[in-house]
Amino acid sequence: MATGQPTATGATGQEETATSAAAQEGRVAGTTGQRMSPGQGSATGAAGKEGTATGAAGPGPAAGAAGQGMASATAWHGGAEAVAAAGPGRQAMTPAEAALAALGGTGAREWPRPRSCRMITIANQKGGVGKTTSAVNLAACLALHGARVLVVDLDPQGNASTALAVEHRAGTASVYNVLVDDQPLASIVQAVADIPGLYCAPATIDLAGAEIELVPLVAREARLSRAFADYDASSLDYILIDCPPSLGLLTVNALVAVAEVLIPIQCEYYALEGLEQLLRTIDLVKSHLNPTLYVSTILLTMYDGRTRLASQVAEEVREHFGEVVLSTVIPRSVRVSEAPSYGQSVMTYDPGSSGAQAYLEAAREVADRAAELGQTG
Ligand SMILES: Nc1ncnc2c1ncn2[C@@H]1O[C@H](COP(=O)(O)OP(=O)(O)O)[C@@H](O)[C@H]1O
Ligand SMILES: [Mg+2]
Repeated sequence: MATGQPTATGATGQEETATSAAAQEGRVAGTTGQRMSPGQGSATGAAGKEGTATGAAGPGPAAGAAGQGMASATAWHGGAEAVAAAGPGRQAMTPAEAALAALGGTGAREWPRPRSCRMITIANQKGGVGKTTSAVNLAACLALHGARVLVVDLDPQGNASTALAVEHRAGTASVYNVLVDDQPLASIVQAVADIPGLYCAPATIDLAGAEIELVPLVAREARLSRAFADYDASSLDYILIDCPPSLGLLTVNALVAVAEVLIPIQCEYYALEGLEQLLRTIDLVKSHLNPTLYVSTILLTMYDGRTRLASQVAEEVREHFGEVVLSTVIPRSVRVSEAPSYGQSVMTYDPGSSGAQAYLEAAREVADRAAELGQTG
């Protein structure tokens, strides 16, 4: 894939495609947020996936699909098998299986897994750039493809916890207790219901006070890092940390605790403003607190292919940051913004949508990068 070129899903700039409409029609189990009992809904599910398979029968990888305006042409394997697997008469699928099938994957080829747990902080002090959306959907994609993933919600708003439908009412054991009360991380981690292998350390509104409560504590910048040190992450492949929209102590804790930073950048005019401050903070943390820290990934989000501005911003970011920027661009997609209100990732909510397909490609790039760096086992 040539850099500088948004991939198929980003390039179309279309909210939804014929294929995703087909997927919606046969909206699979995941949409309702309920597990289907055997015999329920498998026929409709199959219809939806048939639509997907048509797209997937194309050349496969994203590059071949560019300009076709067909999100699901990005599916890279197993489209037809998916339909076969989901065909009438078969056992009804779990939401995760349904999502995988509609995404064009049957799990036949697993993605490369890192040798040890990759810890990635998703940061940008600007609000509304897609931090939470990216954390949740990349994590869901990676888990759907066989990885074991923990999402740490470090935003008092608890948006990632909401999107993953984990309990996070005030008083729930949460990241707050880990940071402020030294409670073990393992004691607050919850499994995400619909996606095996996906876990969440929830944030409650209590965390809003942590920014101040942390100030007088010993090693206040390294509280999360210390919690990770006491946590057995050996069974995990990824930890993704969703940061609040600020560069306060919570974000600094997230930067001290990991090696990799992923910066989502919204493809709009003000996108690059404030980025310098974020990079300066990352540098400061690197030189004083965490020498291993580096920006491993930049993800362009909310790309609107109908505007010149979006492509100009994308181009500028690529010029400036080069290979760190993922080839895949996440398009604006109504489905992406609807999913959290159903307590779901877009991957289970509407796996045929352009947003889900783009996150699938982006997650695969993230997984493949470890392979390129020789970090897989
Ligand atoms: N690709 C997208 N298409 C449409 N809406 C999006 C997309 N990504 C994010 N959104 C919406 O934009 C808003 C901000 O995204 P969010 O991930 O919460 O940003 P942040 O965590 O950086 O504040 C949310 O309402 C979200 O649903
Ligand atoms: Mg957020």
